[in-house]
Amino acid sequence: MTTSLAPTTDSADSRAAFYQQRPDSAQHIDLSVMIGSLRLSNPVMPASGCFGPELGRLIPAEELGAAVTKTVFSEPRGGNLAHRLTEIPAGMVNSVGIPSQGPIGYLTHLHHAYESLGIPTIISVGGHRPSEYASVVAGLRGRGSALELNVSCPNLDRDGMDIGADPDAIVEVVRQVRQETDLPLIVKLSPMVPSISVCAQAAESAGASAVCVSNSLPSLPIDPLTHQPALGNIIGGLSGPSVRPIVLRLVWQSAKAVQIPVIACGGIDTVDDALEYFSVGASAVQVGTANFGRPFAMVQIARELSALSKNLGASSMSDLVRLWRNDSEA
Ligand SMILES: Cc1cc2nc3c(=O)[nH]c(=O)nc-3n(C[C@H](O)[C@H](O)[C@H](O)COP(=O)(O)O)c2cc1C
Repeated sequence: MTTSLAPTTDSADSRAAFYQQRPDSAQHIDLSVMIGSLRLSNPVMPASGCFGPELGRLIPAEELGAAVTKTVFSEPRGGNLAHRLTEIPAGMVNSVGIPSQGPIGYLTHLHHAYESLGIPTIISVGGHRPSEYASVVAGLRGRGSALELNVSCPNLDRDGMDIGADPDAIVEVVRQVRQETDLPLIVKLSPMVPSISVCAQAAESAGASAVCVSNSLPSLPIDPLTHQPALGNIIGGLSGPSVRPIVLRLVWQSAKAVQIPVIACGGIDTVDDALEYFSVGASAVQVGTANFGRPFAMVQIARELSALSKNLGASSMSDLVRLWRNDSEA
């Protein structure tokens, strides 16, 4: 038997009515998760670059565990040449290239809007070398609830990927950033490494509070009409459902290698996708590409986790995963 997630009917109207309803939190299990000293009320949050405050106003963002910002660089930068996005059958390839206003621009123009969502703000930080990460963090002046160190962007020059592929450089980024802040640190790892376990262990050994697995995968889409590269930057990051089995393997290996929480990120669209990740050891999930087509996807996943827990009588997240697995086998 396969579990029937609420709502139990396929009618579009009743589905819409169900998802518009605010859940009665008193009836549901505690889905909270700790990232270092930071408590998230539930394990669902957006992936960096795939959610901004303007989207937060279209959905009940207060039902998310956290907001994660677009990566902030030390200096203002414009990003890559157009075209920056292209759709593929099971996802998208982007070469946005991290346009950034720098830490001062971020604090002046964006931070307040994220904070007004009423959930923890996790600020994503980028750089080309460890000292640049530390300088962004110094410029952020302690703002935010946690920091996510993006050592894995496929859309920069090689440097962005080089840090994420070098365990010693990961250690150095965390070490230098730690000198500037006491906030919980999440290290966002690259999928393009010989051993994700070694990279996750490097982050943990340097004092990271969690790892996020993973960033998008470098790829080269061809435009079917022009037969030329579809993106101005030629190379872009592949994301969406097509990457999920790859990232599931990476999350599984990471979770076996470290004690700190592993935040899964790759092709999550539904509660079942999220549960796949929880079943291989993830403690939380980030949703990226799905937000562009269905801004409500994250809230729906958070609500369905609660509804499913109640339906199955789960007492904790691990209990929920166990029951979800058994229920599918029955
Ligand atoms: C349009 C777009 C912009 C992104 N920008 C960033 C970014 O600024 N920083 C970052 O760490 N990841 C960025 N990412 C990667 C996502 O955060 C995420 O790691 C990746 O898309 C995989 O998740 P998904 O399959 O759910 O989209 C971006 C992805 C997309 C599609």
